Amino acid sequence: MNRHGAGMVSLASPRCATDVIASDVADAVSDVVQTDLLSCGRCPRLRHYLKQLRHQYPDYWNRPVPASGNTDAPLQIIGLAPGLHGANRTGRPFKGDASGDLLWRVLSQLGIEDQVQITNVVKCLPRNNLPLASEVRRCQRFLVPELSAMPMTSVILALGGVAHKAIVQALDARQVDYPFGHSHCHQIGERWVVDSYHCSRYNVQTGRLTETMFRDVVELAYQFATDQPK
Ligand code: URA
Repeated sequence: MNRHGAGMVSLASPRCATDVIASDVADAVSDVVQTDLLSCGRCPRLRHYLKQLRHQYPDYWNRPVPASGNTDAPLQIIGLAPGLHGANRTGRPFKGDASGDLLWRVLSQLGIEDQVQITNVVKCLPRNNLPLASEVRRCQRFLVPELSAMPMTSVILALGGVAHKAIVQALDARQVDYPFGHSHCHQIGERWVVDSYHCSRYNVQTGRLTETMFRDVVELAYQFATDQPK
């Protein structure tokens, strides 16, 4: 048990866009927050990197990447940060690179592409896919309203330990009460969070995460979400 009166349970087993396009801005996240996001330059390191990339890749999005998908979806999937040639190119989370290909393939196999909202804990591309802790913290101003915009009955699928920790922070809970673990399921206040290893090419190539493991955990999170009393 934790201070929210809830515990952690371990579940039993647990299109690649080529054009540069803006995300279909999540409708329930206020316009003010979305406008603030698109013009955000609060993290100097990330701002400079994106500026540099606008010269190197002028056809890429090269801006903060907003959430995509329905805010009334049963499942909210939260990754780390845009990938250089994926979300940073297309302007959509998890569109256009290997991790996105795996995520969308699994969603398509499960027939739930239209029933998810997808975002990242850090909205701007970090060098080497490694955001600083201060950047994760600063980006909470966008993650918190994205979480609040979803129905309380929706389930959050955290992709990777950094996303998991940022979500715990955004839900105002103590990290020590909610350790990350693949296929672990946490009740945090009134929200449920399911953890998965990140579906990165690295994790797949090293065998940490297989496609079957990933499909199982996405399916579990989705089933869990749709089983929630409405
Ligand atoms: N693309 C994203 O949008 N997020 C990730 O975490 C990885 C790739």
